[in-house]
Amino acid sequence: MTDYLDDARRILAANDRGGYTVPTDRLYPFQWNWDSAFVAMGFAAYDIPRAYRELERLVEGQWADGMIPHIVFHAPSDTYFPGADVWRTAHTIPTSGITQPPVFGIALKKVHDAATNRGMEDARARSLVLYEAALRWHRWWYAARDPEATGLVALLHPWESGSDNSPAWDIALARVPTTTETIVIRKDIGHVHAAMRPRDEDYHRFIHLVDVYATCEWDPARQWAAAPFKIAEVQTTAILLKSGEALLTLAREFGRTFDAKELEEFNARSRRALLAQWRPPLRRFVSRDLISGADIEAPTQACFCPLLALDLQPAMLDAAMEEMELWSEGLTVLFPSTKPNYPGFEAKRYWRGPVWAIINWLLIDGLRRNHEMEMAEKLRHLTLTSIETNGFAEYFDPLTGEGCGGLGFSWTAAAYIVLSQSRETAETK
Ligand code: GLC
Repeated sequence: MTDYLDDARRILAANDRGGYTVPTDRLYPFQWNWDSAFVAMGFAAYDIPRAYRELERLVEGQWADGMIPHIVFHAPSDTYFPGADVWRTAHTIPTSGITQPPVFGIALKKVHDAATNRGMEDARARSLVLYEAALRWHRWWYAARDPEATGLVALLHPWESGSDNSPAWDIALARVPTTTETIVIRKDIGHVHAAMRPRDEDYHRFIHLVDVYATCEWDPARQWAAAPFKIAEVQTTAILLKSGEALLTLAREFGRTFDAKELEEFNARSRRALLAQWRPPLRRFVSRDLISGADIEAPTQACFCPLLALDLQPAMLDAAMEEMELWSEGLTVLFPSTKPNYPGFEAKRYWRGPVWAIINWLLIDGLRRNHEMEMAEKLRHLTLTSIETNGFAEYFDPLTGEGCGGLGFSWTAAAYIVLSQSRETAETK
């Protein structure tokens, strides 16, 4: 019998580049922000020092203003575009100039709890340094990405969502010009089939945005004023709030009462704002396009991510569950990143329909928090069996279960490790 847990650990070991883990060889040859947070939680199950190391190496890329970038280019590689030269940022270790979902705080608490449970001697000291980095990043989110203190944080580039190619961005991205100062030399379609990757014109828009922000010298206020793409986003805000809850617990444990007060305020603001994004007729949460002022009604997995950080009232929860069930009908693997009967649905193109183990992990935590144990268990079981059947792929086709995108993927391995051990856990708060 194959030992899938061993396989998962072997993938993490193979993708180790010296204290940090690449998402997969060649397609993503650097350290990615939220990937590393998930990976650290995987390591926390069997190698706590290595889990700390993953987060510490990510923090090497933190900017003076607190932002933790979406990519840290620790070592050169020519198998990825856009590389460090395209970003034109000023940090000593080259980094990209945008950020990614702040899973870091959630991961830090997991690693810290595992370390203290084992009685690890330097747990507190190591956790404290990372806690301070995380808090600086949360302050950056609230200052740079919510200057009007609405409670919802905004993304200035689709890649900041982590759901890079989601149909949620279609209307907003169509306004972004396809002209670029940068010569676009795509490397991704040399590694995986073009039908699974973004369209060429969208890639030009992604790079147009990079050019605009590089011209602003990556100054948050200038970027906010110049941004042709600005989305107040519910998935990111839910992750920020969940991380904020984790940091609040740590702040109390570390006796940081002033920080705790500040975190309580951040969390309360985001909790109120997220609740206000619930749309009863749609039976889900919606993000807002800050340029047009319109709700984003494209049905994507992001619409259910607020479960992660909210305790929903029964009527709301029942409605959300009915909607989730509806999206799941007839699928081999759950949960789809786009509602299957939506015109923008594509089963194999990334973020336009496929199933992601890390999204399932977040949804499972959200379902457990809201006491939806049956659905949580179903999702957990399906995630594990589809990995066992189809491999540690980047993502899965919801219609056939086929593994797509990159293979030997780190976050899928981390999800396997965590989800295979979490049957009894009621919630991972
Ligand atoms: C893709 C995903 C993004 C992820 C990265 C590395 O760009 O959309 O969320 O962080 O790959 O795995």
